[in-house]
Amino acid sequence: MSKKILLMTDIHITNHDINIIGLNPALRFRHCLEHASSYHADASHLFIMGDLTHNGSYDEYKILERLLKNQPFPVTLMLGNHDNRSAFSAVFSNRAEPFQHGSQNFGKTKIIHLDTLDDSVKNRGSGLMCMQRMHWFEYNLGLGDGPILVLSHHHMLNSGFDGLDKIRLLNGNKIAGIIAASGRCKMVINGHIHRTIFSSYKGVPHATLKSTCHQTPLLLSSNDPELAVDEPGGYGVLLLDGDTPILHHVDFN
Ligand SMILES: [Fe+2]
Repeated sequence: MSKKILLMTDIHITNHDINIIGLNPALRFRHCLEHASSYHADASHLFIMGDLTHNGSYDEYKILERLLKNQPFPVTLMLGNHDNRSAFSAVFSNRAEPFQHGSQNFGKTKIIHLDTLDDSVKNRGSGLMCMQRMHWFEYNLGLGDGPILVLSHHHMLNSGFDGLDKIRLLNGNKIAGIIAASGRCKMVINGHIHRTIFSSYKGVPHATLKSTCHQTPLLLSSNDPELAVDEPGGYGVLLLDGDTPILHHVDFN
């Protein structure tokens, strides 16, 4: 029987009553959780793939902590460029020190989630895997012999959005190459772009999921990575069944 995993990303929690293009991120995220627990309470796990908060503040993480109480599934939190490692750690028990990455098995499949937050970037931007994280990743990629899925906040490959591609995972091509060379990775899934996209690199599919809050309009040549539009939020429903993972994407209101 396949295992069901839920993937949400770019929830961008703000302090109470602060909206993003007229949308309340906490309210949107609550609606997303309600939708997921109504239709997918049988899920084994929920990954929230970074940009947990909009400003990386302690108060925003406390709001997120309250929103996540009493969920029917275990939750793994990842970090994005809008996050702050020390504020996150202050609320969620130092789990991001030194890095918020990990590896978990679901049946035969191993899911590796990366930490691509570049603490040195001041203006909310690109991601980077430093040497320490690269060594950790390559070691974990080599363990075992079953299928692997990789979750990353930042996208590794060019997306066609000029502005967002300037702030992708800066060593993304190198990492995508290491993933392809492993011969075991069935899919790479990321957030960051706030839009549904499918591509591939050396035979490995790469997929990008929508935000639960605001989306990126399809203006590919814009150099502005902050463009946002009020379109329905969405999340991923991943079915793990041996060598053939299936990724569904569902919108909610
Ligand atoms: Fe985001």
